[in-house]
Amino acid sequence: MTSPSTAAAPSLVIDNIGSLITNDPSLGRGPLGIVEHASVVITDDLVEAVGPAGAVADQRLDADGACVVPGFVDSHTHLVFAGDRAAEFTARMAGRPYDGGGIRLTTEATRAATTSQLHRLVKRRLAEAHRAGTTTIEIKSGYGLNVSDEIRALEIAETYTTETTFLGAHLLPPEFEGRPDDYIDLVCGDMLAGAAGHARWIDAFCETGAFDAEQCRAVLEAGQRAGLGLRLHGNQLGPGPGVQLAVDCDCASVDHCTYLTDDDIDALAGSDTVATFLPATDFSTRQPYPDARRAVDAGVTIAVASNCNPGSSYTTSISFCVALAVRDMGLTIDEAIQAVTIGGAAALDRPDLGRLTPGSAGHAVILDAPSHHHLAYRPGVPLIRHTVGPLGAW
Ligand code: NIG
Repeated sequence: MTSPSTAAAPSLVIDNIGSLITNDPSLGRGPLGIVEHASVVITDDLVEAVGPAGAVADQRLDADGACVVPGFVDSHTHLVFAGDRAAEFTARMAGRPYDGGGIRLTTEATRAATTSQLHRLVKRRLAEAHRAGTTTIEIKSGYGLNVSDEIRALEIAETYTTETTFLGAHLLPPEFEGRPDDYIDLVCGDMLAGAAGHARWIDAFCETGAFDAEQCRAVLEAGQRAGLGLRLHGNQLGPGPGVQLAVDCDCASVDHCTYLTDDDIDALAGSDTVATFLPATDFSTRQPYPDARRAVDAGVTIAVASNCNPGSSYTTSISFCVALAVRDMGLTIDEAIQAVTIGGAAALDRPDLGRLTPGSAGHAVILDAPSHHHLAYRPGVPLIRHTVGPLGAW
């Protein structure tokens, strides 16, 4: 191990780690690069060194023999919203299907909320995510659906993360009923012009009842011209053109992927587009779980994220997503851990995240467990003892 820096920035050592997941097979055992009896030195938010227990730094966190994993990278959330849709969830549990129509209710409540109320709500959700081990989070707009409220949502989001996504094409707002193409023109015109300075990404909801492939393509192409990276919601409520469109447009990620055909898998496997699965959504909407095993076996790069939003998935718990991905989507525990760390990082095109290797972001989670297996083995149990990383400092 190299010795910790004596530079001005205070260094931190996480010491006495029983099992360290580095996500670098060259550093340790198996695909997760597991190092036993380890320590990690972090200086200036970057991993400075990984090595045997006993390293010295300005500050010390004792893992007491527990497992340490990279901080979770949650690559899909809709955290900027007001209002409550618990009644919609309850009705769903009684048999009512999910169709995305509740987005309008949230839009009404979000437009009516003050900016400081929205900040408070977002901070609370971020603190909750941080306590649950998330250290990087993507946040979408999409509950404003007019120029000023979409821009406001992005201004709020950019206070907390660099991974902001403009989702003006989330659902047709009521004032554009029967005029979807006029709304798409607004999204690609004035809305994008105002949003682009506050967003890294652009996204659209490609689904029956939301926007069709042609409309989504127009949004993605306009976003690309404005310098934004591309992502897409696709194949959530049924088979559809989303995955093919995302691959065609070279999106960084296509999210949901609940209904994948063989052609969709082939297209993803031959592309750089990450398939992002959102198992807590399938749980909350009673959709069938996608067969992520099939995608992995075909060579598709995958991520798993929370999709925290008030309608289809009101959770910030990545551990819950890991448990579902293992129990119901056919992933091994190792694959599920990769999907919420380096997978999320790939979906956000952030190779600096999701691993604990020298030079990468010093974001780590000390578990209350001897191994990462416990994240799926002990569902519903708060196993995050300490999160080291930038979220939650609000
Ligand atoms: O990712 N699919 C579209 N958007 C969200 C749901 C939003 C809502 O129901 O409020 C999703 O599931």
